[in-house]
This record gives sequence, C-alpha cells and structure tokens, in this order.
Amino acid sequence: MNPAASPARTAAIVPAAGRGERLGPGAPKALRSIGDIPILVHAVRSLADCGRVGLVVVAAPPDGVAGVAELLAPFGATVRVVAGGSTRQHSVSLALDAVPEDVDVVLVHDAARALTPPDLVAAVADAVAAGHDAVIPVLPVADTIKAVDAASTVTGTVDRSTLRAVQTPQGFRRSLLAKAHATAGTPTDESAAATDDAGLVESLGSPVRVIPGHPEAFKVTTPFDLILAEAVWARRTAETKNTLDAKNDDAQNAAETKNTVETKNAAGTKNTVETDTRKTDA
Ligand code: CTP
Ligand code: MG
Repeated sequence: MNPAASPARTAAIVPAAGRGERLGPGAPKALRSIGDIPILVHAVRSLADCGRVGLVVVAAPPDGVAGVAELLAPFGATVRVVAGGSTRQHSVSLALDAVPEDVDVVLVHDAARALTPPDLVAAVADAVAAGHDAVIPVLPVADTIKAVDAASTVTGTVDRSTLRAVQTPQGFRRSLLAKAHATAGTPTDESAAATDDAGLVESLGSPVRVIPGHPEAFKVTTPFDLILAEAVWARRTAETKNTLDAKNDDAQNAAETKNTVETKNAAGTKNTVETDTRKTDA
C-alpha cells in the first residue's frame, strides 16, 4: 500500500479569487452558495476532512480578503487567507508564496470544485507521497470531440480514447510546483495564463501522473452546474439524515430490547419469589 501523505508536511492552495463571470451576475463564485453553504466553505471542508492536509491557503478576491477570513475563521489556524491575483495562475502563485518552508507536498484545488469527495483529495496526496512529483485526477471524455475551423466547418474527429478531462486537486512536490511557477512568470491576462498547474509542470518537461477522478469533483462554472451541485448536495444531505435516522432507530431498538429483557427478568424474579413464598407457605 502507498504511504499516506503527512498532514504536517502537506498544504493545499485554493484559488478562489475569480469573479465567476460564466455563472452570471452576483457575488464572486466562491461566495455563492450550494445548500446555503458558500462554495468556498464546501471546498475547504473537503480538504480539511481528507486527513492529509495540515494547512489550507486560500487566494481570495483582493477586495474581499477580510470577509473571506471571517467566513473561514471556524477552521482556525488550519486556514490562511491571502489576496489573489488577476488570473488563476497568479492567484496560485501568490498563495504558494505563503506556504511555509517545511511543507513539501502542495495540492492545488479550485474552490469551484466545491463537492469534491475528501477520498479523492487523499488519493492525490498519497500518490505524491508515493513518489509521483505531479499528480492529477482525470475522467474519460464521454462526448465525441471534433476539431472545427474559423468557418464553422469540422476539420476532423479527435481520437477521444487518448483524451482525459482534468480535475483538481492536483498534487505536486512543492519544489517542482515552485519551479514551474517561477519559470512561467505571472501573466496578467487569463488568455495567456495556464488553466491548470500541471500544464506548467508539463512545460518544464516533467512527467505528470494521472489517477482516476470523481464525477462529483466537477467544477461549478455555469448556472446549470449550480443546479447539478444543489442536487448532489441534497442527495448527500438526505443520505446523511437516513444514516443518522437508522442509527437512532438502532439505538432505540436496542434500548427497547434492553427494557423488555429487564421487565422480563424483573417479572421472572418476582414470580420466582412468589413461587418460593407459596412453597414456604405450604
Ligand atoms: N481563480 C482565482 N483567481 C483568478 C481567477 C480564478 O483564484 N483571478 C479561481 C476561481 O475562483 C476558481 C478557480 O480559479 O475557484 C477556477 O477558475 P474558474 O472556474 O474559471 O472561475 P472564475 O474565474 O471565477 O469563473 P469565470 O472564468 O467564469 O469568471
Ligand atoms: Mg476563470
């Protein structure tokens, strides 16, 4: 079995400074809610719950650092908040600067992948601990993919068997991630920036290992994704309630069984005593 990542030496960076333009008007995406809980809180919770991460550094919207720090205060010293930048890549780079020196594994996790199961986070961290210096979770591509030219004409069908859709958290040996960001610099325009950190590592020529992703680690990008997230969250909440109800039922059944046994025992003792009494009387 792979060694588990040490929480003391593993940190997570959460880029959460985006505006969420594709989600439509409203608060920055990380502060919008799923089931009345902010997206960012869901994401930090799944990192905190995985048992591998000792520190989470959040890159917040630059004008909202104090509010985000207050929102995440219940997590205590596990979470630090810094101001994000004008691109995702820049936000990650700024958060990386705030990761303490003694951390040697860094996970980078989009706040927008709010409902990522903690087991997926643990699997990524453990794969890095096992010796893979860059690890990404991926899923097969379900749709047929076409290449199209500027005149809206198909130029070819891409062999999807070699393609994968990429998720986060992406896990890295800290030194490799730092080198990748230092080499890439800090583009201020999203069109010139990398959309994920593994891309920067690939640019260095370093290998990137894939592990199986999870459908519920999808990124909330559009209003439809928010509907999907609400449905996933409602199902999880109902499952948790059912489990708790079943536990309460078990506890109640156990208590009732105990009472019945005690009543029977008490009645048995009483009968025995009465029988004995009759015997004595006779
Ligand atoms: N992000 C960031 N800093 C930026 C831009 C994005 O930290 N300057 C974060 C987002 O908050 C999000 C993650 O990077 O958690 C993935 O980006 P994306 O899904 O594109 O989010 P937004 O940029 O907020 O959305 P949009 O592109 O629709 O505006
Ligand atoms: Mg964006």
